Amino acid sequence: MRLFQMNQRTCLSIILAAGEGTRMKSTLPKVLHRIAGLPLVAHVAKAAQSAGAGNLALVVGHGGEKVRSAAESFAPEAEIFEQTERLGTAHAVLAARKAIERGHDDVLVMFGDTPLIDATALATARQRLADGAAVVVLGFRTENPTGYGRLIESGGKLRAIREEKDASEEERRVTFCNSGLMAISGRHALELLDGVGNANSKGEYYLTDIVEIAGARGLPVVATEASFENALGINNRAELAEAEAIWQKHRRRETMLAGVTLVAPDTVFFSHDTLIEADALVEPNVWFGPGVHVASGATIRAFSHLEGAKVASGAEVGPFARLRPGTDLKEKAKVGNFCEVKKAVVEKGAKVNHLTYIGDAHIGAGANIGAGTITCNYDGYLKFLTEIGEGAFIGSNSSLVAPVSIGNGAYVASGSVITESVPDDALAFGRARQKTLPEKARALRERRADAAKKK
Ligand code: UD1
Ligand code: CA
Repeated sequence: MRLFQMNQRTCLSIILAAGEGTRMKSTLPKVLHRIAGLPLVAHVAKAAQSAGAGNLALVVGHGGEKVRSAAESFAPEAEIFEQTERLGTAHAVLAARKAIERGHDDVLVMFGDTPLIDATALATARQRLADGAAVVVLGFRTENPTGYGRLIESGGKLRAIREEKDASEEERRVTFCNSGLMAISGRHALELLDGVGNANSKGEYYLTDIVEIAGARGLPVVATEASFENALGINNRAELAEAEAIWQKHRRRETMLAGVTLVAPDTVFFSHDTLIEADALVEPNVWFGPGVHVASGATIRAFSHLEGAKVASGAEVGPFARLRPGTDLKEKAKVGNFCEVKKAVVEKGAKVNHLTYIGDAHIGAGANIGAGTITCNYDGYLKFLTEIGEGAFIGSNSSLVAPVSIGNGAYVASGSVITESVPDDALAFGRARQKTLPEKARALRERRADAAKKK
């Protein structure tokens, strides 16, 4: 979704992802931790693109191979720059000097660990550049500003951003803070960034200094206000969970307003790419992993777990069902309690109702799969296919040893182990015949009792 066209103004987004915080206590770079299944930095890139940033520059740290290779999937068009020494945010932006030099109307500087930034806030900042500002700072208000740069205003104008460590006591009382996001006019970006020095308590090149530099040159600087949520930066796993919760809350609301019934919204978890059409119904405690599409009129019942699955109109899943990648439930198909389905098409109206595993299979329309049916699809080395024809009936507790096919209208007796294919309309028994011996139970009991007495 492109929110913003900005009458052809070009835009470069520079996403800083070089900082290697240690507070995540992780071998994974911070910006690759996920919210709704998508890396933090990918959320940031998505927001930039929605706000019309046609060019992306990603600044990674020394040896940022993991971020670099992750970017190949979430933003293959991004240009990657390396900041070899961590000398501050302005220094990091200048790692992308080559991209800035190409000349864009707008330059957006974003932090890779601020995943909830939304495209509207970015679009507003770009609008202020279009209106003539040289620097736009995205601020937010908080009762607890400790650690953030403070926006120092006077006479209704933004004069400077003061970092916590460099702020006076009076400045520290300011609750209007820097989110870290800045929009800079491309025409002035390099001259402003090149003017930044490192005479501060951390000895870093602060991006925030460009506010004072622009002011001194008589260039207009403005602050816009975003929500605290928009500005939430992730530094540890508690904040990661907080951001996840905020993201989920937004998505649930959006989903409901788009016409989906969530019976207990707080218990349903979506992935960044979950697609649910209007008039679907989702019962409590459902987890959507990546790649799920639920069509209008489908029902996902309580305690189900879905990933990489398609659920067509009128289909029903759960309660307590697990759909794994490659599941394709056609119209009015049913997968009931304690069933697992993987890489399988369940055609129209077919039923897999109880305690069943279906993997690497095709189930024909209207087939009925009895309780406890297992497709034995794996021999420890390779996977094999099971084909079940239209209107076939698989008796309860049957094992279908793949590769095997059950014909249209065929009938498999309960408890069968099927190792050979069954033709259309055939009846297959894959079990020993029952033998009943009258009165033999009594004799058996007496023998056992005698044996026990002699002990
Ligand atoms: C920064 C801002 C502060 C703002 C806060 C919001 C500056 C000087 N300060 O402070 O005003 O309130 O964010 O969260 O900009 N990075 C690099 N290379 C570096 C240094 C940083 O890539 O050399 C990246 C980090 O990965 C991170 C971002 O820049 O994504 C911010 O750096 P960080 O050190 O966390 O800045 P803060 O002190 O939090
Ligand atoms: Ca930070």
